Order: sequence, then structure tokens, then C-alpha cells
Amino acid sequence: MQDILSVKNLKKYFVKKGFTGASKEITRVADDISFSIKNAETFVLAGESGSGKTTIARLILRALEPDSGTISFDGQDITNQKDDLKKIRLGCQMVHQDPYASINPRMTILDIVKEPLEIHNIGNKEERSRLAMVALGQVKLESDDIASKYPHMLSGGQRQRVAIARAIVTNPKLVIADEPVSMLDVSVRIGILELIKELQEKHGISFLYITHDLSTARYIGHRIAILYLGKIVETGPINEVLSSPRHPYTQALIDSISEPDPDNLHRDKKIRINEPSNADAYQGCRFRPRCPYAIEKCKQEPELEKVSEQRQVACFVKID
Ligand SMILES: Nc1ncnc2c1ncn2[C@@H]1O[C@H](COP(=O)(O)OP(=O)(O)O)[C@@H](O)[C@H]1O
Ligand SMILES: [Mg+2]
Repeated sequence: MQDILSVKNLKKYFVKKGFTGASKEITRVADDISFSIKNAETFVLAGESGSGKTTIARLILRALEPDSGTISFDGQDITNQKDDLKKIRLGCQMVHQDPYASINPRMTILDIVKEPLEIHNIGNKEERSRLAMVALGQVKLESDDIASKYPHMLSGGQRQRVAIARAIVTNPKLVIADEPVSMLDVSVRIGILELIKELQEKHGISFLYITHDLSTARYIGHRIAILYLGKIVETGPINEVLSSPRHPYTQALIDSISEPDPDNLHRDKKIRINEPSNADAYQGCRFRPRCPYAIEKCKQEPELEKVSEQRQVACFVKID
């Protein structure tokens, strides 16, 4: 199957200058990130808060320039196409954690969903309204009543559905959903996950599902990449990775959700990692200071290695 998105050796470092301008702190937010997403696949990027997930999304959408690396979308290298970003901005849409990030509170729901069609100059006025109503139908908000309302009149779950309708109205091939349920009331999360699943299965949309929560990831994902401090430490089919993790960090993340069953969707977990304060944190394996299995060799940096046909792990120990 062809890849819809392919990211190779993507790098982005942020440099924070000290008060005097002399001391510098470098955060390696994306450090040699490579992965690809197949057509009609839900690929999960999982990691704790601060691990670099949103930055990777912004790099893909070119809201941020990578320091190096390449990004191909739908078979075309878009890394250096500064003038022609329309292809990715039309073909790849984003759903944010906070629905208000993409919806204007002063516009009606219909106008909000129609707006991307206007931006990309698709259809005439009637056609845009028709397509917006189709998109609202796809997210199960088809009533005329809702179309004429304003965002504050809806529930949080309904607002996130509007954000999803807005993302799919242009018929994108890939949707990046950045923690789309983490700000929602636990009782409505499952409905949004079911919707994403349905959009993927019925309409063949590929998803990059970004989360800090493995229980929601397991519910909708096909393959997963586990991110730790800007590096992918483990990747492979989601069921294999979550049922027999080989990286101690994956194991730790799984342990933090005691039982990976749907009931956990109703629990909220947010762990914060200790951000590295200096360059030492990037010497050798980044997980070493927290790793119960660390050995002398872990002072060197482990690279991703194949452990089976579809799985890769960056660890010298590779737990069983
Ligand atoms: N524009 C920026 N300038 C400097 N540091 C940033 C910037 N954006 C993000 N960071 C830092 O990069 C790291 C990763 O952030 P982010 O990608 O938002 O992580 P996540 O989405 O996984 O929580 C954090 O340490 C954050 O403070
Ligand atoms: Mg984020």
C-alpha cells in the first residue's frame, strides 16, 4: 500500500538563550524522526507531555521549518516547496486539542465548516453550503438547527465534532488529530474516537493520532510510534507493541494505565516528564536516568533496530 505521508530524518532543535545571551539551552524537540503513514491507516504518535508531538505535527504542516530532513506527502517531496504549500494544506487537515483553536466563536457552525472551502476556492456558494451540510452529517450533527447555532451554544463534544467536520469538508487524505479528546469530558471521549474510526474505515481517511494516552490509542490505532524527548524509541503494530513492549519506556507508559481496557478511557492520566536542563540529558540513551534496566552501554546512544518484520526498538537491553 502506498504511503500518504513519509517523514525522514526530521530534525528541529529549539535554542533558548540565557539572560546574558551567552549560555544556551538546546531542546531537541524532533531528533532524527522517521516514520510513514499508509493510505487509510491510523498511525499513533504517543508520548508524554513535552516529548515533541505537537512540534512534529507543525513541522509536517509546515507551520514550522525543520532544521533538516524530508517530508513527502502523497508521493511528492514537499520539504522545499515553500511556494506551493497548498497541496499539503488542502490534503492534510488538523484537529486541535482545543476545538476553539480552529473555530471562530462569532461565526455560525455552517460558516465555520464552510470556511476551508472558501479559503481553497472550492465550489460556489450553494455547493459550499451543501458540502458543509454533508460534512456535518458525517460527524452526526446534520440538523439545520445546529448549522445556524454559534459555538458557545454547543457542548464540548459537539464543538470537537464541528472541528472535525471542518477538517474533513475539503476531502483531505490525511487528518492530524492532536490530542482530540484530552480536553473533553470523559463521557464524550468514546463517541469522538468512534467517529474517527468510522471516518477512517468508511471514507478511507488516514489519521495521525497524537496522544499521551495509550488507552485511547489502542482503541483506534493500527501502528504506533512511542516518542521520548524528541526521539522515537519504539514502533510497530499497535497490538504487538502494547501487548509485548520491548522498550522500558513503553513498558513504563503501559504500567501507568494499569489495565489497557476501554474502561480506562474514562480515566484521565497526565504525566509530566522532567525536561532535560542541559546537554548532558542528550548523552547516550535519554531514558537512562529513569530506566531500571540501564547498563553501562546505555551511555552510548541506541539507534532504532529491527526486532521483527514490522517492529523497531532503540534500546540495548530490549526487555521481553
Ligand atoms: N516555539 C518554541 N520555542 C522553544 N521551545 C519550544 C517551542 N515549542 C515547543 N517547545 C518545547 O519543545 C518541547 C516539545 O513541545 P511540544 O511539541 O509541544 O510537545 P508535546 O506536544 O509532546 O507536549 C517542549 O519542551 C517545549 O517546551
Ligand atoms: Mg502537544
